[in-house]
Amino acid sequence: SKYHVIIPSAGSGARMQSAMPKQYLMLNGKPILRHAIEVFEVMHQIETVHIVVSAQDGYWAPHLLDGCSKTKVLDCGGLTRAESVLNGLKHLALEADANDWVLVHDAARPGIDQPLVERLFQEALPESVGAILALPLADTLKRADSQQQIETTLSREGLWQAQTPQMFKLALLQGALQQSLDRQPTDEAQAMEWLGYQPKLVVGDLKNMKITYMRDLQVVSALMQAATL
Ligand code: C5P
Repeated sequence: SKYHVIIPSAGSGARMQSAMPKQYLMLNGKPILRHAIEVFEVMHQIETVHIVVSAQDGYWAPHLLDGCSKTKVLDCGGLTRAESVLNGLKHLALEADANDWVLVHDAARPGIDQPLVERLFQEALPESVGAILALPLADTLKRADSQQQIETTLSREGLWQAQTPQMFKLALLQGALQQSLDRQPTDEAQAMEWLGYQPKLVVGDLKNMKITYMRDLQVVSALMQAATL
């Protein structure tokens, strides 16, 4: 079956304290968003890449797709990430098969690379419902009360941090997101879980962490450079 990519890129990046949304900030010589686009562009298994931006986005520029042959931009971003992804899926459904795989990847994860995507492909067997990249949790987890004092320590056994890409069959994911919109899932897997599915966790990499705060730029930049040495 075929593979497609949707990159939700319609966030405002409120936590970055930057006027420019984080996906357009420069990292190792390229806009953050461009790193992921280039990884998916060169993978022969992938048919199409759709970037979902906000209709009010003043920073999108055509040169972001220079040299790209299968990537398109859609200005149908929504108020939440799930809405942006769903709008992208509706568009993709016009040209793709209901059974095609869709990989949803955060624009703010420039550290994705080809071996990680290949690992996801291998472990999301054709008969499975889908899979996501994720990392087992290393730190001890504390739950705080409103005074920022420790209320309790949570067991970290079996806990993972979700990353992206998150890979599901097109029609199944579209239905799951459609049904769960008002519950505001924070990733695609959660919408699938609410339907009773148990997507597989595939070991990702620290370098694929999401850029949320300014200091994350330096961390990801260093991790990406170290990986190419
Ligand atoms: O805000 P957060 O870091 O969780 O965003 C994750 C991804 O979802 C980012 O790539 C962001 O651009 C995207 N997003 C979106 N539409 C929204 C909110 C976030 O496409 N309304």
